[in-house]
Amino acid sequence: MEVVVVPSRDEVGPVVAAAVVALFQSKSKPVLGLATGSSPLPVYEELIRLHRADVWGVGQGVCFLLDEYLGLVPEHPGLYRAYIREVLTDRVGLPTQHLFGPEVHREDLTRACRDYEQEIRAYGGVDLQILGIGSDGHIGFNEPMSSLASRTRIKTLTEQTRLDNARFFGGDLDAVPRHVITQGIGTILEAEHLVLVATGQGKADCVAKALEGPVSAMVPASVLQFHPHVTVVLDEPAACKLALREYHKYTFEHKPSWQGL
Ligand code: F6R
Repeated sequence: MEVVVVPSRDEVGPVVAAAVVALFQSKSKPVLGLATGSSPLPVYEELIRLHRADVWGVGQGVCFLLDEYLGLVPEHPGLYRAYIREVLTDRVGLPTQHLFGPEVHREDLTRACRDYEQEIRAYGGVDLQILGIGSDGHIGFNEPMSSLASRTRIKTLTEQTRLDNARFFGGDLDAVPRHVITQGIGTILEAEHLVLVATGQGKADCVAKALEGPVSAMVPASVLQFHPHVTVVLDEPAACKLALREYHKYTFEHKPSWQGL
């Protein structure tokens, strides 16, 4: 696992976007996994900038969402599909048919979950998966005690996660769905490269538990310790509780320039 600590949120975007650009340069049909929420926004802002500067384009790339809310009408702006279109994919010209997410409006949701897994496989799996981390240690919407081998399925959100996400629903906790479909932890672990982004002091505890604590279903993100290619990009406040913070900075400062993330 590589941990990159940058001074502030502003430096997060260029570091992760460079890895996305490198992927799109190295593969004709790259598969990018997208997280929603606030953490990846600096990355998406940088990708939009690179797109406008003609440095990066979506080409034949496809994108898969990690998760989606259940119980919202198809035109609801709070749906993650609508959110990602607004903050990234429409802005960089990704055709809507190249954006995939769990099909939460189908009648047979068990089938929809199975089909989503199949769709990811049909595209050869996710090359680079961007992840955020919940304050309770979740990745995707795999809340504490999710099976570390879980596949795409319906989950119930914790009250903490609903509270954290109420800001996307005008601060109205009652408007935040209780259920979601999320890629499982086993599904996420199949991506080639996992890139977790966390910013702000509010993430310092869960980041320290996930990176330096024991691997436990109580902290789902701790399972990243088992993955062969993980990059964690943190700003200083999010890294402030890491015992090895200075070592990570030293390592990154002395990283050979030819070596990407
Ligand atoms: C959303 C997702 C979640 C978020 C997490 C952190 O697609 O996968 O795991 O990444 O809830 O959310 P923010 O970034 O808003 O703090």
